[in-house]
Amino acid sequence: MSEPSFYERAGGSVTFRELAKSFYQEVSKNDVLRPMYPEQDLAGAQERLALFLEQYWGGPTTYSDTRGHPRLRMRHAPFHIGTLEHDQWLACMHKAVINLEIAEELREELWTYFQYAAHSMKNQPDLI
Ligand code: HEM
Repeated sequence: MSEPSFYERAGGSVTFRELAKSFYQEVSKNDVLRPMYPEQDLAGAQERLALFLEQYWGGPTTYSDTRGHPRLRMRHAPFHIGTLEHDQWLACMHKAVINLEIAEELREELWTYFQYAAHSMKNQPDLI
């Protein structure tokens, strides 16, 4: 028997759907981030994020089956992501992560990952 994946240990699809949902609830109230999402309805973006995270953490590969290789840096290239956007994105994600009802060590692992991933998505130089 192989070790259970992070996806399984964190509660599977329900957890990642909950995370994506509360993240986008925060985005919908955020004056910096909301205008960056062109679609009227954030449901599509919420679904893409949930599927990506499920795949990344060892769950089903529906994201790549439907959207191809993630190439997240490339997919973010059309958006201006400087320190402001990075910080606001992480602030929204922090609220979503701390609300998850999962073991503290799993929350910490998720949060560490998001800080690293958000940093790697920046595509604008710092002005100072
Ligand atoms: C650092 C600040 C970030 C900003 C401002 C940002 C903003 C955006 C925007 C505007 C979109 C397009 C919305 C859409 O899906 O239609 C998007 C897509 C997406 N973002 Fe981010 N993002 C950030 C970081 C991240 C990070 C750290 C991750 C993953 C850990 C991530 C995962 C995704 C995914 C999976 C999509 C959908 C890609 C696709 O299949 O088209 N983003 N993001």
